[in-house]
Amino acid sequence: MNKQIKKATTALEKSAPAAQANPYRPEYHFLPPANWMNDPNGTIFYNGEFHLFYQLNPYKPKWGRIHWGHAKSNDLVTWEHLPLALAPDPGPKELHCFSGCCVIADDGTPTIFYTSISAKSFAAAVSRQAEQWVATSDADMLIWKKHHANPILSEAQHHPENPPRHWRDPYIWKEGEIWYMVLGGQQPGEKFGSIYLYQSEDLKQWDYVGILAKGREIECKSWECPNYFRLGDNYVLLVAPFQQVIYSIGEFKDHQHRGTAWFTFDHGKDFYATNTYVDDQGRTIVVGWIKADGKGDWAGCLSLPRVVSLDADDRLKIHPLPELEQLRTKHIHLHRKLTEPTAMAGTAPYFGECVEIVAEFELDAADSVGFILSDDEDEYPIRFDFETNTLQALSEQAQLEFRGDPGQLKLHIFIDKSVIEIFVNECETFTTTFHPILGENNALKIAPFFANAQGTITLDFWTMKSVW
Ligand code: FRU
Repeated sequence: MNKQIKKATTALEKSAPAAQANPYRPEYHFLPPANWMNDPNGTIFYNGEFHLFYQLNPYKPKWGRIHWGHAKSNDLVTWEHLPLALAPDPGPKELHCFSGCCVIADDGTPTIFYTSISAKSFAAAVSRQAEQWVATSDADMLIWKKHHANPILSEAQHHPENPPRHWRDPYIWKEGEIWYMVLGGQQPGEKFGSIYLYQSEDLKQWDYVGILAKGREIECKSWECPNYFRLGDNYVLLVAPFQQVIYSIGEFKDHQHRGTAWFTFDHGKDFYATNTYVDDQGRTIVVGWIKADGKGDWAGCLSLPRVVSLDADDRLKIHPLPELEQLRTKHIHLHRKLTEPTAMAGTAPYFGECVEIVAEFELDAADSVGFILSDDEDEYPIRFDFETNTLQALSEQAQLEFRGDPGQLKLHIFIDKSVIEIFVNECETFTTTFHPILGENNALKIAPFFANAQGTITLDFWTMKSVW
C-alpha cells in the first residue's frame, strides 16, 4: 500500500467511531467509513460485481485533499469497503484526484480516467490547467498505478487555443471500435456549460472531436460530470450544471447530441453529480451524490440506485432498484376509500427513521395530499398540490414537469435518518435532507394527510434494515 493511502486509511479508521455513532447517519445508503464523500466515480459492473469509486476526503468531514475511495457490491444494496484506489501524489504535483470513470481496455486492463488537479491549476483564477490522467490495475482492482505517460489529455495538447475552464470529469464509452470520452467545462467568455467530445482507438492517443452539446439557455458557471449513454435507440445526456442535475434525450449524430429540451433529473438541491452502471441484465442504473451531513461527524452519501428506461413516448422512467426490497422488514398495508375530505381521513400515523413508503392515490377530487413528518419540535411536509402540480419536500418545492392522469399520483418515499428520496409517478425524483430532533425514546412520526380529497388510497409502509 503506498504511503499516502496508508496515511489516509489510518485517518479514516480514527474518525470512524464518531461518524458511525452519529444519529443522522443513514443506515441503508452507501457512505464511506467516515469523513467526506462527494461524487460517485468509476461506476462499473465487472466480473459479476458492482464497483463504486467516489470522491473522498479521508481527513475531514468537508471537501478537500480529494482521494478516490473504493467499494464493491453484489447487488448495489450491501457494500464492502475496499482499499482506497487513488491518493493525490505528494508535493505540489497533484493536489486532488477529481472525478472520472473506469473502463476495461481492449486487452482486459481495468483503467481509471480522472482529472488531476495540481496546486497550480487549483490556484488558477478561472479553473484552468486541469489534466486528464490514467491509472490501471490488475483484474482484482485493488492496487492502482498511475500511468507514466500522464497526462493523457492536456490543455497544451488538446486545446492549445481557447482552453476550456473547469475542464474535467471524464466519462467514456465505446461505439464499435472507437472509444469516446466526454469532459465537462465552459468555453472562455461564455456564461453556460459545454460538453467536449474526444475519440481514441486505444484509450491512449486521444483526439479532440468537437463540442457534443452546449447549454446556451442555462446560465451557469460550467457543466460538470457529464454522462452520455444509450437507452434503446436514444442517447441520454446527463449533466450537473452547478444546480439541479438535468438531462436531454436524443440522437448522437455527426458527433453532436441532438436532443429534446432539458428536463430536471432530480428536483432537490441536495442531489448532484451522477454516474452510471450497465449491469448483466442490460439495465442502466444512475447513482448520484447526496449532500447529507452529520453536523461535523461525516458528510455525503450515495443516492439509492435508480434504474432508468424510456417509455413508449421516449420519456425517462426512473425506478428505485428493485433489489432494495430485500431491506424491507415490518410491513403495514392499508387501502381506504376517502369519502370524508378530512385532514387525516382516519389513517393512523406510522413511526420510524429508516422507512420506505409507497402511496398510490386515485382521486376524484383533491387539493393536496402527502405526509407530515414530525419530530419532537417541528413538522416537515411532503405535499403534492394538484392545482399547481407542485411537490413540496420539506423546505424546498418544485413544479413537476410531467402530469400523469389527473387524480392519479404515486409517491414512493425513502426516509433514511437525514436523507429523503421521493420518486413521483416513476418519472421524477426529489431528494432532500434534514436533521430531525428526537429524544432517546422518540421516533419520527409520519402521518398521511389529505386536503379536500375524495377517492381511494393504497399505502404500504415498511421499516428498513441497515445494510451494514
Ligand atoms: C462535482 C465536482 C466535479 C469535480 C469534483 C471534485 O461535484 O465539482 O466537477 O471533479 O466535484 O471533488
